[in-house]
Amino acid sequence: METTISESLLERRKNAVANGVGVFNTATVKSAENATIIDTNGNELIDFAGGIGVVNAGHCPPPVVDAIVEQAKQFIHTSFNVVTYAPYVELCEHLNDLFPHGEKTKSVLVSTGAEAVENVIKIARQATKRSGVLCFSGAFHGRTMMAMTLTSKTTYSNDCGPFAPEVYRIDYPSKFLRGQGMSEDAFVEQELNNLNQFFKTYVRAEDLAAIIIELVQGEGGFHVAPKAYIEGLRKICDEYGILLIFDEVQTGFGRTAAWGAMDHYGVQPDLSTWAKSMGSGMPIAAVVGKAELMDAAAPATVGGTYIGNPLACASALATIKYMKEIDLNQKAKKVGEIIWSRFNAMKAKHDCIGDVRGLGAMIAMEFVKDNDPNKPDTDLCYNLIRACAKRDLIVISAGVNKNVLRILSPLTISEELLNKGLDIIEEELDILMQ
Ligand SMILES: Cc1ncc(COP(=O)(O)O)c(C=O)c1O
Repeated sequence: METTISESLLERRKNAVANGVGVFNTATVKSAENATIIDTNGNELIDFAGGIGVVNAGHCPPPVVDAIVEQAKQFIHTSFNVVTYAPYVELCEHLNDLFPHGEKTKSVLVSTGAEAVENVIKIARQATKRSGVLCFSGAFHGRTMMAMTLTSKTTYSNDCGPFAPEVYRIDYPSKFLRGQGMSEDAFVEQELNNLNQFFKTYVRAEDLAAIIIELVQGEGGFHVAPKAYIEGLRKICDEYGILLIFDEVQTGFGRTAAWGAMDHYGVQPDLSTWAKSMGSGMPIAAVVGKAELMDAAAPATVGGTYIGNPLACASALATIKYMKEIDLNQKAKKVGEIIWSRFNAMKAKHDCIGDVRGLGAMIAMEFVKDNDPNKPDTDLCYNLIRACAKRDLIVISAGVNKNVLRILSPLTISEELLNKGLDIIEEELDILMQ
């Protein structure tokens, strides 16, 4: 059989690109629009991965493309450290308005989620003059040294140590994994007690600069932290002078049918991190926080040649404007409702689905054996994803055990295409379960 263009591209990738860059899916791309990818063979693929939650506003929204082109005609780079430009300042102003932290909010722009995480920890340490950082099981915060240390799943850090010191980890408050049969109140009480006990056993609360948490875990498998737990965490942080950091890199910009997952909780963090869909694919990320904390970082301790690149700022400004114009959060609500009801209908048919969970349009289902949350069915999830790929649906897994199927499609996807993709998942699951 003749080698297709896609196959030969993948073969060239194998020869030229280092192995460390993982292959989640063997799809290729020539062009993309909204929720559709045209591969190098000319096939139309449905995109339920959205560049790992980056194209909430769709692939290549025209006003965003125009803004990037216009900016490129003006100037592409000066380095914000050296020459100040308006798009950077304007984007910070927008972020401060969208995500208020206390009385006055300030922001700093960087290029990736991991870089935002690195910097938020540097800022927290400078502001508190403490070094300890507490993070959670199942957490994913990126691949740079501090971010990787904070990341839970060990396959991301294979042989990469020694890791950053003064990082402590406690179990994420996942009711599915740790609170089966318990009321939410009893579960939250148990988890907050565990935290207080942790302070006695592993690290003093007074030595912690920060606690960093994803309100809905992304790579960790879309576990949703209970509202009462986050309220409790806020109280504990206030009591001990610990800074509370929300990592909203995957949850932000419409994914949970709100600008941030924190909007669902009514709890303000001291600092937060943002990236992914903020720039529709241009590398842009931010640390947002209480002004007095943000200003505690000494000049030159935060920065980098490319921070807040002008093209990326222009892209983010146009993305935010576009999201407001089309009311993306409302669209996300609808997308979430459809996925929620379709996944629950599949759960009613198949015992292998142990849980359907999420917030807004950030919905996933977890595959288990024998109805047991502690028996992940990694193979089933893998086989389902492969079967979907053969039918031109791109979908990816999550979870420490890779047994969670998560949807990160553009939120601008049409109901018809969304249902078409969900039909494929359902049909292929039916076949696998026969
Ligand atoms: C919650 C969270 N934080 C941080 C990161 C790291 O972002 P990046 O891949 O842009 O470095 C990710 C990436 O998936 C993420 O989901």
